[in-house]
Amino acid sequence: MADNATTQGSNTLFSPYKMAKFNLSHRVVLAPMTRCRALNWIPQAALAEYYAQRSTPGGFLISEGTLISPTAPGFPHVPGIYSDEQVEAWRNIVDAVHAKGSIIFCQLWHVGRASHPVYQPGGAPPISSTSKPISARWRILLPDGSYGVYPEPRALSTSEIPEIVQHYRQAAINAIRAGFDGIEIHGAHGYLIDQFLKDGINDRTDEYGGSLANRCRFLMQVVQAVVSAIGAERVAVRISPAIDHLDAIDSDPLKLGLAVVERLNNFQKELGRKLTYLHVTQPRYTAYGQTESGRPGSEEEEAHLMQNLRKAYEGTFMCSGGFTRKLGMEAVAEGHADLVSYGRLFISNPDLVLRLKLNAPLTKYNRKTFYTQDPVIGYTDYPFLSKESETKEPRARL
Ligand SMILES: Cc1cc2nc3c(=O)[nH]c(=O)nc-3n(C[C@H](O)[C@H](O)[C@H](O)COP(=O)(O)O)c2cc1C
Repeated sequence: MADNATTQGSNTLFSPYKMAKFNLSHRVVLAPMTRCRALNWIPQAALAEYYAQRSTPGGFLISEGTLISPTAPGFPHVPGIYSDEQVEAWRNIVDAVHAKGSIIFCQLWHVGRASHPVYQPGGAPPISSTSKPISARWRILLPDGSYGVYPEPRALSTSEIPEIVQHYRQAAINAIRAGFDGIEIHGAHGYLIDQFLKDGINDRTDEYGGSLANRCRFLMQVVQAVVSAIGAERVAVRISPAIDHLDAIDSDPLKLGLAVVERLNNFQKELGRKLTYLHVTQPRYTAYGQTESGRPGSEEEEAHLMQNLRKAYEGTFMCSGGFTRKLGMEAVAEGHADLVSYGRLFISNPDLVLRLKLNAPLTKYNRKTFYTQDPVIGYTDYPFLSKESETKEPRARL
């Protein structure tokens, strides 16, 4: 069992937690969520309000997926962290979050083959571990709001991979320059790193394909590069071994998840330091999430997978995917997670932490405005609890 879980006694979703050097006042985390409110890959003022609204003293937020390089985008109007202008723009957002007492990590993102020539410099094909395209079962959101077919990607040559690793490293350095407290490496949901991890996608014959050790190599090189630049206590990893989003299927998700965990554990041992946390998306997300075409496992299968990864990982463990108040409370109380990240409920409830604490009613989210560009509608205009309903219950200490 992870050491943090055993030393902290009777935990609840609302009890404090020491995550690396950060003193969190509760366990309700803002999950990373792409919201498409940037302009020319530069975050705008609306993001400062959005993230500040979701901040609580001692709370923890993870930014939306943030581009590490010009070849990284696969969605319209998402922000990057590879230019000085982007770094400056992020600083205002991070400052607004810090002013509210929250801690914020930047999620580093490269979509790999989940892109389109319209998003690529010079209209080039997107890059990946493979030259196999994502199947027509999935559609890409294009800048004009229409949906297109994913094109054939270009498989990276072995000698090109160190440069991509270097982009992650530089993006991490930039995130710290912008004031972020750390970074989360997006190794989940069928994007570039997952395209190396999963045997349903990775068909390489070099040292980045084939065996589990080879498929984990790219992720581990990114981890090493980023840690050497900004320190382990500022670096987290997200994986989703059992999520089939964008055809990211593995023949043995548990084995893959455990292989990643084993490598992270060994890395931590050799370094003598721990990463900030491991964030794992639960398959339930696909079952109830953005698409209905996932491969929903039974509740028992999911619990088996998550609990095995949790037990194996020697550090802070964060879960995500379909958590309600009840499920989040249970996960922490039963020691199945140290932290729980909430996505869609946090979109429509900026004061989600308070609402969960009070067991107050939750506002329903509007899926239609998840990826629209209006800086207010469906973004910063979701209501807070009224003063009246707040005072019906004893004031929560957050
Ligand atoms: C609109 C939207 C955008 C998302 N964008 C990202 C993202 O940029 N990076 C990421 O790792 N996960 C992303 N996710 C997944 C969420 O982080 C989260 O795991 C998922 O929504 C499941 O949690 P929930 O059931 O509480 O919503 C996104 C989810 C939604 C709904």
